[in-house]
Amino acid sequence: MATGIFYTTSTGNAGEIARAISEKLDGSEVFELNTDTVTEMANFDKVIIGVSTWGDGELNDDFEDIWDEFCNVDLSSKTIALFGLGDQEGYPDEFCSALGIVYEQVKNANVIGSTSTDGYEFDSSKAVVDGKFVGLVIDEDNQDDLTEDRISNWCEEIKSEIL
Ligand SMILES: Cc1cc2nc3c(=O)[nH]c(=O)nc-3n(C[C@H](O)[C@H](O)[C@H](O)COP(=O)(O)O)c2cc1C
Repeated sequence: MATGIFYTTSTGNAGEIARAISEKLDGSEVFELNTDTVTEMANFDKVIIGVSTWGDGELNDDFEDIWDEFCNVDLSSKTIALFGLGDQEGYPDEFCSALGIVYEQVKNANVIGSTSTDGYEFDSSKAVVDGKFVGLVIDEDNQDDLTEDRISNWCEEIKSEIL
């Protein structure tokens, strides 16, 4: 079974990133995560999950809405890669924290694709575990010029394990 890329978004950014990742990973399928698609996750051995951070370090509303259903999907046997979107200048104390919230829920699976915090400026983030981000971190508000390279490098790194 191909790789499934599942995302939620509030203003569309995470969808753009999901599609850009999919273009780099041949055969992957993209789904907006909602009450209809959340159970689809179980059909994939390899799953990529994307979430943007809203409020003050919280999941965006659409992820919040399906959180209980998401927690009921057994992902423990899967290979999982995560990506998150945030705004390091606007929210330096909770930069991309929703990524960390999702990670906490899936961390018993084989989670791959952690990345360096080099090149970002922020004070704190739930997405940092053992000194690294638990997935790909994209900041469309302040560093959209770096997005393409960040996606390319990350996809290259995870390709052998996620496809
Ligand atoms: C009201 C509001 C609250 C936000 N809260 C956070 C936050 O706590 N941490 C963060 O890193 N980014 C925060 N952001 C930035 C968004 O995560 C960022 O703009 C992201 O690219 C949105 O992606 P989306 O369009 O996929 O939802 C916030 C943005 C807004 C407008």
